[in-house]
Amino acid sequence: MTIKKWEMQIEIHTDLQTLSSEWKKLWEVASKACEKAYAPYSNFWVGVAILLENNEIIEGVNQENAAYPSGLCAERVGLFSAGIQFPNQKIKMMAVAARRSDNPQIIPVTPCGACRQVMIEFENKQKNPIQVLFQGAENQYYILETVSNLLPLQFNATSLGI
Ligand code: THU
Repeated sequence: MTIKKWEMQIEIHTDLQTLSSEWKKLWEVASKACEKAYAPYSNFWVGVAILLENNEIIEGVNQENAAYPSGLCAERVGLFSAGIQFPNQKIKMMAVAARRSDNPQIIPVTPCGACRQVMIEFENKQKNPIQVLFQGAENQYYILETVSNLLPLQFNATSLGI
């Protein structure tokens, strides 16, 4: 029997002011985008800002539905939107912010499992890491250098053997 351990690295900022200007901008766009969420069932608003290599910023927000499973998270809305609008542009960075509809304060959120799977597909497809920023805990802003840090033992195209 052997035990295998993984290491992952997170850069943690306790103050938004210590973020780079690129991250500050993306955080601002993601936070503001929350207001465009369509989340009348959970009242949990999520906003995403995606920076492409051509410097375009694509937004995403969660889209809920009366038939609950028909809705989609902000991350996937943003990524699929980037994929159709700029199919040949690589994604450099992605910020995810969340708040409740009745309180303007931004609160912690981490991408759900299904979104991590879609994020890794985009990262693998473009053969370049996507950096990710989200509030990992209260007053803690996590920056990950690559989506693969969010998804060890990933299932991907190689797993299909094709
Ligand atoms: N949600 C996101 O949009 N992104 C996440 O990372 C976590 C959850 C949405 C889905 C649903 O509309 C609401 O938040 C509550 O789960």
